[in-house]
Amino acid sequence: MMHSVSKAHRFAGNASIPADKSIAHRAALFASIANGISTLVNFPQSQDPQSTLSCLKQLGVPIRVFSDHTVIIEGVGRNGFCKPENPLDCGNSGTTMRLLSGMLVGQTFGCELVGDASLSTRPMGRIAEPLTAMGANITLVDGHAPIRIQPAERISSIDYSLPVASAQVKSCVLLAGLWANGRIVVRESIASRDHTERMLDLPVSRSDHQILIYSDASLPIPHGTVVLPGDFSAAAFILVATSILGTAQVHLPKIGLNPSRTGLLDVLQRMGAKIKIENVSSSEIEPFGDLTAERSRLNGISITGDQIPNIIDEIPIIAVAGAFAKGITTVRDAEELRHKECDRIDAIVNNLKILGAEIEEFEDGFAITGGTPLKGNTVSSYHDHRIAMAMAIAGLASEGTTTIQDADATSVSFPQFWETLDSLQK
Ligand code: S3P
Repeated sequence: MMHSVSKAHRFAGNASIPADKSIAHRAALFASIANGISTLVNFPQSQDPQSTLSCLKQLGVPIRVFSDHTVIIEGVGRNGFCKPENPLDCGNSGTTMRLLSGMLVGQTFGCELVGDASLSTRPMGRIAEPLTAMGANITLVDGHAPIRIQPAERISSIDYSLPVASAQVKSCVLLAGLWANGRIVVRESIASRDHTERMLDLPVSRSDHQILIYSDASLPIPHGTVVLPGDFSAAAFILVATSILGTAQVHLPKIGLNPSRTGLLDVLQRMGAKIKIENVSSSEIEPFGDLTAERSRLNGISITGDQIPNIIDEIPIIAVAGAFAKGITTVRDAEELRHKECDRIDAIVNNLKILGAEIEEFEDGFAITGGTPLKGNTVSSYHDHRIAMAMAIAGLASEGTTTIQDADATSVSFPQFWETLDSLQK
């Protein structure tokens, strides 16, 4: 499907943002191995979390989905999964594939995890390596899915230093630890999102500039009611759109504000954006609050090093902010972007060049000189939801019409994205 957008002459109002996909995956996965019933309120309709639900159903977990987006999961306990009849289809979702692999290596049955064309090219050696060191029986094809898992004699303890800052790899190893006969330590030198630690209440300590996270088979798995907050990474597109083209304020209620996810707020504030954060509820495991943005004059900044994991999913839209900022916006140390749903450095640079932006590509990022007026054209989503949405916002701020090819990629994380853009322009 193609979708065209034209220069926006109005952008204001209230936007409802889908629930957080990282939290949704984890809420469903953890509820499935608890001993008790969980109610997940505001579960997202987006494809990625739905892939997690369908894999769990195939593993024999009773799941009921209601029309008000409530999902009820009857936990089967740590040893209650059934052998799936068919390969588990993780769709486009790296989080489903990596976290579920960690939960399946300690089972008494074999299974296979498969994904779509994009997921089948993403690196899985990064999970197979530590899992194999723990005794797992896991094979890949050339470092990629399909992932084949056979029962292991045992899953052993490990003290693992993450070679890449990745919450998916971290979570995979920690989750395998729930079936291990010893203690798991995962060390990260650059913090990545900490939803798994928070939601499972894992012990965490700090030493020598490292964060150490522990798991083992005796940890209780919580169950109960989880109300999912709005996805900060989806809100990011609307925050940037409002900063560069808002005609009045845009309000985004109940957005997740976990500090390991909100680096974009610091980035936008450093660029000069006016964003108000109100009604923060910090007593929750996952804090949330209301965000209000308005049009602002943005300045280029430089983003590197430890800041990158916190904004990893927001970099495509930061590039668009950079295109409309005064001066140069530089992103470095972000080589990891080449291993997302597509090579996001390549996609950002090619697409923004097509619209006339002055952007230079580096192996680990880019530098964009803002201020050149962009002109609508045809660009590709590269079948990547975040590229589709970033280019839609660039299109709304460009002269003329911009057509995004394979625009339905947005349904991976934000199924109502196009309707939300339309409603803010009315
Ligand atoms: C995610 C972690 C990040 C992020 C992805 C979701 C998660 O990936 O890009 O969209 O839910 O754990 P990495 O941890 O592999 O960088």
